[in-house]
Amino acid sequence: FPALTGSGCGGPFRREGEGKMAASAVTAAKRASAAAAARVKRFAVYRWDPDKRGEKPRMQTYEVDLNKCGPMVLDALIKIKNEMDPTLTFRRSCREGICGSCAMNIGGGNTLACTKRIDTDLGRTTKIYPLPHMFVVKDLVPDLSNFYAQYKAIQPYLKKKDESRQGQEQYLQSIEDREKLDGLYECILCACCSTSCPSYWWNGDKYLGPAVLMQVSRATL
Ligand code: SF4
Ligand code: FES
Repeated sequence: FPALTGSGCGGPFRREGEGKMAASAVTAAKRASAAAAARVKRFAVYRWDPDKRGEKPRMQTYEVDLNKCGPMVLDALIKIKNEMDPTLTFRRSCREGICGSCAMNIGGGNTLACTKRIDTDLGRTTKIYPLPHMFVVKDLVPDLSNFYAQYKAIQPYLKKKDESRQGQEQYLQSIEDREKLDGLYECILCACCSTSCPSYWWNGDKYLGPAVLMQVSRATL
């Protein structure tokens, strides 16, 4: 309840200034207890800026109070960028595991930052890197040019042997044919699988990798 000025405990017998002192003591106590309850989590984040010539990649540690942060790693990254370090660079868009743009390596595994819960063990620093074995554009942003070029190269769309009547009728899909796509259409092309595959690490220029091969199998059903 809001405190009523000039009333409440102490009433008319309170000495001058005593109310203010009591209020500030309460505020200080509140601040102290909030600080005591802070749940500080450390994030070590890969940093590299191509514009800083000669500077090598490094890890930068940020401390985030989990009481003031959403539950996902992307929440922590956004908080760091908004409140501590606007230079931190990463991709994100949908914030719900749909677009695939926030794919990165968190705590040793490739995953989506927006669907990855923060490890609440405060004694453990969470390490965040860009997707492994890719060229880095900046900080947590990998260069996916080769990945997308490979996807484009397989021409991932349906083709008819005879396209002379294209646009003249609707191509209906049977329920059975639609069901064949289950397990294939869900891929959001985040590249987490391909960039965790050693064959792709070493021969990414020749080997299409699991994500694109899965798209091939979808188009050739
Ligand atoms: S199949 Fe690979 S690229 Fe597609 S969503 Fe899964 S991990 Fe991402
Ligand atoms: S922000 Fe879209 S998948 Fe994470």
